[in-house]
Amino acid sequence: MINTINQLAFKNDLDFARTLDKNDELAEYRKQFLIPKTKDGKEWIYMAGNSLGLQPVQVRQYISEELDDWATHGVEGHWLAKHPWLPYHENLTEMAARLVGAKPIEVVIMNTLTVNLHLMMVSFYRPTKERYKIIIEADAFPSDRYAVDSQATFHGFDPKTTIVALKPREGEFTLRPEDILQAIEKEGSSLALVMLGNVNYLTGQAFNMKAIADKAHSVGALAGFNLAHGAGNLHLKLHDDDVDFAVWCSYKYLNSGPGSLAGCFVHERHSNDTSLPRFAGWWGNNKAARFQMGPNFDPIPGAEGWQLSNPPIFQLAALRASMELFDKAGMANLRRKGDLLTAYLEYLLTEVGGDFFKLITPQDVTQRGSQLSIKLKSQPKDFVKLLGERGVICDFREPDIMRAAPAPMYNSFEDVYHFAKAVGEHVS
Ligand SMILES: Cc1ncc(COP(=O)(O)O)c(C=O)c1O
Repeated sequence: MINTINQLAFKNDLDFARTLDKNDELAEYRKQFLIPKTKDGKEWIYMAGNSLGLQPVQVRQYISEELDDWATHGVEGHWLAKHPWLPYHENLTEMAARLVGAKPIEVVIMNTLTVNLHLMMVSFYRPTKERYKIIIEADAFPSDRYAVDSQATFHGFDPKTTIVALKPREGEFTLRPEDILQAIEKEGSSLALVMLGNVNYLTGQAFNMKAIADKAHSVGALAGFNLAHGAGNLHLKLHDDDVDFAVWCSYKYLNSGPGSLAGCFVHERHSNDTSLPRFAGWWGNNKAARFQMGPNFDPIPGAEGWQLSNPPIFQLAALRASMELFDKAGMANLRRKGDLLTAYLEYLLTEVGGDFFKLITPQDVTQRGSQLSIKLKSQPKDFVKLLGERGVICDFREPDIMRAAPAPMYNSFEDVYHFAKAVGEHVS
């Protein structure tokens, strides 16, 4: 395994990219994915795993098994299926815990992302007249902004005076870590919650969750993170970072299919806190009593107690196929390769780019994962479309950002080489 990043040693040539692939211990994982092809049969250069990950080969079999068990067992599949449906989500708990650096009691797979964010804020955003503000990024994903705004409104507060939206300094594109901490300090006793994406969806900037959680706690606030762009991307340590809650989706780096299920982390210290308000559903109830159909809610300790509904088994089966790959490869190894892939992409783009664009993702590897955000100076939408027509796939976000993310699970150094070459051909 190559484990040092020395941009000076990189070369803008195909043989060099292929040598990096030969030395890549994770290269075999690419075969576990279905890579779409162009009309003339060439594999796409797929750099959009930060938007929708590719399909693991195993997904079809895992979903088929559930279809077969349904056909064979009907309702009895809940206990007679090869992987009984009643406890199916538990098959994912330990893997999810290892993925995000948590204890099993702290994680659960359930619902979808924005739903989980609301459920977490029901419990962890409890504003008072004195302490009510929420810190978020000014360029947060719109759904996150709608969620915090609507939570403020729900509690009778005006989002305009409740939501503190952090902006980069004039002329800069990303937030300075010290400015985030200072904003927390400044809001002090009026701050109820810090709710950031741990990797900003637009800029690809990763935040230091431990520093932010510690600072939030020091002023008496709580810290929650949206890991939509961090889960399956960064090597996370949610428990040790002491964050109060986190939520993530599984259709991006976690490759479980469009609109798939989400994850949720609740720190162990909140596991048995029955004083927390929550919106409850029968799947969060004490498992032993779930089928006694009683009227009183008795939450399962830990994250599982926030479940509402019995989960969709086909979608869990798809996620299981992908999570097994993450578990086998190991997030530390994936991140090591991811850092190298991203650095190689950065190097090549800088070589080919000229004046046509600006890379706005931080160069510091501790402040980014696999995504590079490229601010295009003219006709950004057309540029991304032109690349797409050649089977070079990345995405565009308004107003002028092209996002490219080489996913260490299936992207090769050769992919990165071809991506940058295609960009170079279009800019020249
Ligand atoms: C940072 C972030 N938050 C929220 C969402 C919305 O996710 P969902 O539609 O799964 O609720 C996304 C989706 O891309 C996202 O990237």
